[in-house]
Amino acid sequence: MKSSELRQSFLDFLKGKGHHIVPSAPVVPQDDPTLLFTNAGMNQFKDIFLGARQITHLRVADSQKCIRVSGKHNDLEEVGRDTYHHTFFEMLGNWSFGDYFKKEAIAWAWELLTEVWKLPKEKLYATIFEGDQADNVPRDDEAADEWKRQTDIQPDHILAFGKKDNFWEMGETGPCGPCSEIHIDRGPEFCDNDDPAHVCQVNGGCARYIELWNLVFIQYNRDETGALHPLPASHVDTGAGFERLVAVIQKKASNYDTDLFTPILTQISDLTGKPYSDGEEGVAFRVIADHLRALSFAIADGAIPGNEGRGYVLRRILRRAARFGRVLEMHEPFIYKLLHSLVQVMGDAYPEIVQRKEYIARVIRAEEESFGRTLDRGIEIFEQKAADVLQSSETVFPGDDAFVLHDTFGFPLDLTQLMAEEKGLTVDVAGFNTEMEKQRQRSSRAHSV
Ligand code: ALA
Repeated sequence: MKSSELRQSFLDFLKGKGHHIVPSAPVVPQDDPTLLFTNAGMNQFKDIFLGARQITHLRVADSQKCIRVSGKHNDLEEVGRDTYHHTFFEMLGNWSFGDYFKKEAIAWAWELLTEVWKLPKEKLYATIFEGDQADNVPRDDEAADEWKRQTDIQPDHILAFGKKDNFWEMGETGPCGPCSEIHIDRGPEFCDNDDPAHVCQVNGGCARYIELWNLVFIQYNRDETGALHPLPASHVDTGAGFERLVAVIQKKASNYDTDLFTPILTQISDLTGKPYSDGEEGVAFRVIADHLRALSFAIADGAIPGNEGRGYVLRRILRRAARFGRVLEMHEPFIYKLLHSLVQVMGDAYPEIVQRKEYIARVIRAEEESFGRTLDRGIEIFEQKAADVLQSSETVFPGDDAFVLHDTFGFPLDLTQLMAEEKGLTVDVAGFNTEMEKQRQRSSRAHSV
């Protein structure tokens, strides 16, 4: 099944269960100051959950564009190093606004995964919330019972976990509730964890068991003091990571081996003259392909790289991608050219990137050009400093050097941290912050004269 067919089959299935299909909301949230980017399908329905907006449909489904690079949900560090985290991804979701609840959400997820998409039942696991005393939320026995009643999942594949894994919240405040996740065991050959103490298991931190779908039972609102308040009605909010589903259904080891990414990787290969391979160059291919998607969709939806807030997040992403371009020996702007293959892959589902293609390319190119002027010199200086640190058998990259890289060469702190980490070093963040503070004081004195 092609990725486009899979996306459509999800929507068709939910339509058959009485859901109204809506378009994805923009990745730049319209009226929510608590979020820099849309991080989940439910964001656009937050006010409905809180009872602050009228509903026109009790059941809704969509494929939502999401970006997870800041705030509570941030997957940036994993991107490229593994094969299943992304800064930008699509989340397939279905919602019930005070209508159906756990029984139907569980039954339909199981039906779609095992009967329509034919995933092997014996490889699937369901998790439920084990409860939390501090929040005074009980164990979700209701969900466990529905798993047993509505499905033929192996009873010993129903597992309970705590707040970190099975209580979902969109941010520090807002609608939230216990959740039930569906994981798949892809087999021992998928384990990518080298820790000798590691044991492959659900939520065990390797690529063997991966989460496919999260069914959240929205029952509370968390306020600014951290207190939970029950909502007037109970809702369902589900999210399935589309790229992972495509990989599992297309029987690919990596999300990047699916038809969502291969045309982009092929174009990177054409432009760089290098094959997509293992090792550091493979990481660079994946980071660039991933970051291209996040940048393009964010720019299409109105964000623009800059020095603050959302704009700085985009700038960091772009600079990271540009630096990985250097790993592939690309010294001239090239990321903007990849829009061609991205449009090929995603243009039908998201026509905004077709309509704004020229504009997106112009913005990316301008950013690549401006960072390109200082990037090579910055890398050189980083290499010298890192060599000095390693020679003196230290493990900490000095904060004042990280500051110079930031201030003079435009290296975001997290880029320097990433490069340091590749050499087994950490950056003295406190020292970096001290220099930043000194600079703030210098510039505020300059302004007050
Ligand atoms: N809102 C839930 C999530 O993002 C479905 O995992």
